[in-house]
Amino acid sequence: MFSLLPTLLIACTLISSVLTAPVPLAPLSLNDATITKVRNNMLQISTHSWELGTAAQTDLELRAPALTVLWPTAFPPPKSLSPVLNASASGALSIAKRVVRAKPASSKTLIDGDGAVGDPPSIGTAVLLANWTRSDPSDQSFSVAAAQQLDFLLNDAPRTSDGAISHRKDQTQLWADFVYMVPPFIAYYGALQGGDDGANLLQEAYDQCRLYRKYLLDTGSGLWKHIVLGNWQDNARWGTGNGWAAAGMFRVLETIRHSSVSSQFQSQTDDLTSWIQQIIDNTWKHQNSDGSLRNHLDDESSFVDTSSTALLAAVTYRMAVLTKDTSNVDAADKAFSYIKTQIDSNGWLANTVDPLTFTTPSASGSHSPEGQAFVLLLQAAYRDYSLAKSGGVRDMLLAYIQTR
Ligand SMILES: *[C@@H]1O[C@H](CO)[C@@H](O)[C@H](O)[C@H]1NC(C)=O
Ligand SMILES: *[C@@H]1O[C@H](CO)[C@@H](O)[C@H](O)[C@H]1NC(C)=O
Repeated sequence: MFSLLPTLLIACTLISSVLTAPVPLAPLSLNDATITKVRNNMLQISTHSWELGTAAQTDLELRAPALTVLWPTAFPPPKSLSPVLNASASGALSIAKRVVRAKPASSKTLIDGDGAVGDPPSIGTAVLLANWTRSDPSDQSFSVAAAQQLDFLLNDAPRTSDGAISHRKDQTQLWADFVYMVPPFIAYYGALQGGDDGANLLQEAYDQCRLYRKYLLDTGSGLWKHIVLGNWQDNARWGTGNGWAAAGMFRVLETIRHSSVSSQFQSQTDDLTSWIQQIIDNTWKHQNSDGSLRNHLDDESSFVDTSSTALLAAVTYRMAVLTKDTSNVDAADKAFSYIKTQIDSNGWLANTVDPLTFTTPSASGSHSPEGQAFVLLLQAAYRDYSLAKSGGVRDMLLAYIQTR
């Protein structure tokens, strides 16, 4: 059943290497040398829980898209990986392996989250993939670790009275970041399980997006606040927070669409589509003339931030493929052109927000792990958008695997 996956992957690899050449098909594409440097830097400096989870997801979208929820080949994953696929997925799988090997058996969470409920689960999708594709069938460590992490989220973490799972452990507080870290894990878990239990988890992932939006949406700007509830708040419309929310909801949407129960979830996928579109439409209204976005998207006194510019452009290309609405593609193209001017010759993205303060630029000489990832998410999204646009090469491949 999965024998075509390697073929597909090789085809995609060939196509993407064609696309990285300066041909009219994908003129903005980063070259291979730059991609390699940006990736090596990402893998080298990603250490916090959410950075590892984001790096794993990014590496799959870049190198093994057929294994991600963005492709109809997502479910179920192959039982064993061909050498080609194994090599392409090795960045993500080695993060999952390292984390699970280091996890104390008594810890329900995958890794220490620096006080966050919501960050360690970001590694969960890679752990689930490692489980489904493991070469030793008697190895239950990935399955057990993923189940413990899910149990902690569903049964131990604090929640609001209406059910939003807290991003923090010590108090109930909601951060936009959560939407990229947790609902995609719960949704992937559910789609892999299938049946009624799986459908319940897909519904839970959707509900977390719905509840987070209920609390975080700023109705005036149509953008999301960063942090609400608890003993302090960040009501600013943080660029990266809006990117996390839009990109996280997109992964949930694609997980549901490619699951075996997608037909039961029409209203949920319609909602997710319009919620992502709302963020994107309201983001680009505030784009600077050079293509950049500001750290606080709708505040003209805020500094320029390349991280959110890259991530929001990535989601914009993904949404254009899904909805066929290309009205924001010019803005994304401008953003990508701008981002390319911000990558230095060593593959570091400049002018990022400091991801730990979220209110100041990164100190000179320091780099943003998530910013490195967002460049690659942008490259992968642009590649897939260009494929879809250029006479449906991608559609052809998809039709091929769907009729197998
Ligand atoms: C898959 O790749 C990893 C690391 O790149 C390697 O250690 C492992 O032996 C490979 N497994 C298979 C089945 O090829
Ligand atoms: C791990 O993989 C096996 C298939 O090898 C599957 O039956 C099990 O449900 C998986 N565990 C999780 C948590 O998905």
